[in-house]
Amino acid sequence: MSENFANLGLRNWTCSVDAQGIAWLSLDVVNSSVNRLSAPVLQELDRALDFFYAAPPVALIIRSAKHNGFIAGADIDEFSSLDSPDKSESMVLRGWSVMERVAKLHCPTLALIHGHCLGGGLELALACRYRLLIEDSQPVLALPEVKLGIFPGWGGMMRLPQLIGAPKALDMMLTGRNIRAKQAKALGLVDALVPQRIAELAAAKHVLSHAKPRQARGLDAWLNRAPLKRLAEKQALKQVAKSDPYHHYPAPRAIVDIWANHGGNPLHAADTIHEITSSSTVHNLVRVFHLQERLKAFGKRTTKPPLQHVHVIGAGTMGGDIAALCASKGIRVTLQDQRREPIAKAQARAQRLFERRLREPRLVRQAMDRFIPDLQGHGITQADLVIEAIVENLEAKQALYAQIEPLLKPGAVLATNTSSLALSALSAKLLHPNRLVGIHFFNPVAVMPLIEVVHTPELDADVRDTAMAFCDQIGKLPLPVRDTPGFLVNAVLAPYMLEAMRCVDEGIQPETIDEAMLQFGMPMGPIELIDTVGLDIARDVGVQLTDADAMPACLAKHLEKQQLGRKTGQGFYTWKDGKADKQRPQTVPHHLALRLIAPLINRTQEQVHIGVVSDADLADAGVIFGTGFAPFTGGPLHYKDHMHQPLPNLEASPTV
Ligand code: NAI
Repeated sequence: MSENFANLGLRNWTCSVDAQGIAWLSLDVVNSSVNRLSAPVLQELDRALDFFYAAPPVALIIRSAKHNGFIAGADIDEFSSLDSPDKSESMVLRGWSVMERVAKLHCPTLALIHGHCLGGGLELALACRYRLLIEDSQPVLALPEVKLGIFPGWGGMMRLPQLIGAPKALDMMLTGRNIRAKQAKALGLVDALVPQRIAELAAAKHVLSHAKPRQARGLDAWLNRAPLKRLAEKQALKQVAKSDPYHHYPAPRAIVDIWANHGGNPLHAADTIHEITSSSTVHNLVRVFHLQERLKAFGKRTTKPPLQHVHVIGAGTMGGDIAALCASKGIRVTLQDQRREPIAKAQARAQRLFERRLREPRLVRQAMDRFIPDLQGHGITQADLVIEAIVENLEAKQALYAQIEPLLKPGAVLATNTSSLALSALSAKLLHPNRLVGIHFFNPVAVMPLIEVVHTPELDADVRDTAMAFCDQIGKLPLPVRDTPGFLVNAVLAPYMLEAMRCVDEGIQPETIDEAMLQFGMPMGPIELIDTVGLDIARDVGVQLTDADAMPACLAKHLEKQQLGRKTGQGFYTWKDGKADKQRPQTVPHHLALRLIAPLINRTQEQVHIGVVSDADLADAGVIFGTGFAPFTGGPLHYKDHMHQPLPNLEASPTV
């Protein structure tokens, strides 16, 4: 059979038949580091299926020849060209019918999965009768379409609920979250986990086993059918309402509707297909995906091996959490402070992070072993990277550098987490000012995806690249920024927070201000943000980063009473159990959101003009990943260029 298959002239798929008559169909997309199901790759699969329909093998096993994984999904760039209902429908139809043909083959089929198995890749695996997962290949399974504003339209919405039950399937499709090996097995997403060394043997055995294909059972099966189906639908819509109360993202509701009312077949909801694929949300989320890839690429510029040992000085809010994150990512960390107490507290927080993130007791123990309290600072001489995260004070930081610089091992990088001090000033007294780089984390460290990598003109390019590779190593997105006050993110937040406080001074309720920005799509309103970072910090930031002549009266009033926000239990809001006590306002003035966002957008533009980042796209990326700026807008500058009304001129008359 292999000779005949070879005559098909396929470029991306190869096939061989073993002694038992099993056909092994292997995907290796040419000129690409990962497998993607682009239109040509799907067309070739269709031709391969013609072949298997004409001459069915004993069984068919589908796998990937790429080292890094099975299939990473559809070709995202194809979404950008969906500018007509016909094109959108034919893209869905193309994948849908190929998967249907896989599902209806006359021989047993099995997907042998390693590494990533995402989107269309998982839909292909779902169309097979069986799925085996190679557990020692760090597998990640997901239907992440929702993150791009679309739905799993190639059979996922039909087959996943049938396999694992509607509640779990809808949860996977509505969040797009990653599923790892053990969970995939527990969910019933795969039939078995197998180690690499016996994977082929196990796959051959399983595909010939005549085992009954898996299916949701018990309550899970009932929830796929009327009348209980309505219950699952209601529950899912509740989840959607909670995560997207302002209907910024159409895809999640479409997923629930297509599953509940069209049997998971989007072709029965043609209007929805076009509505979704032509929406600006999809275009903007695809843009954000590419921006994210661009940031990730900064972390891959160096071919140096990953860092083995990081030494963190200052075990406070930031240093303690930076150390914990590093240890959770497999790096040996020594954590130094002047005092024992913050180190002990950081250790306790680290333990909680490891338990949350790593779950397995063995992995938690290993991470705790990598997290080494180091009151004396013995780690300095061993570390590949030393991160300083002590108090925000120029003299204190300079004094520390004078002590530690002679102790650094050759080639070690010295980094500061400063949020407001100029690197040029910090490095002024160093013997080697070209080795000090800013690695500016955001709070909370474990959650915020961005790190600003701050460079001075004298910074060694190699040091900068090492810093960016470190960000990649710990799963963060590096953004290179120039050494200017507030870098990018704090500089753009400062005038936004100031404008919000000016609104309070004018008599607008904090709740109304926050609600306006939540409706706009921000993850948190500016007043709640000020309460969260602390009113004292907001004051310092305001003094440094805005041209306001005087502090807003509302801020001065709270500061006078020592009401610093969340940390003191009272700021603009009263805080109870870590939550601001607020009433949702009845109405929000028209244009309030635009008034509030205008200073942020204008400052972002200024930061591009003065070269803090090298272009507008990077500024958008930084503001989205550093502040949570509504991703469906494509970023502040993209939003400004595509909005249909001008931003208010605040200098002229700041009224709403
Ligand atoms: P923090 O006050 O919570 O912790 C500072 C720690 O440094 C304290 O535990 C203190 O004992 C220790 N320390 C002071 N001098 C020391 C020395 N010479 N040697 C060893 N340990 C020393 O401060 P936080 O908030 O963690 O900030 C640290 C740095 O991170 C600052 O530069 C700040 O600007 C920056 N940053 C803070 C953010 C935040 O949200 N808190 C966000 C981003 C950056």
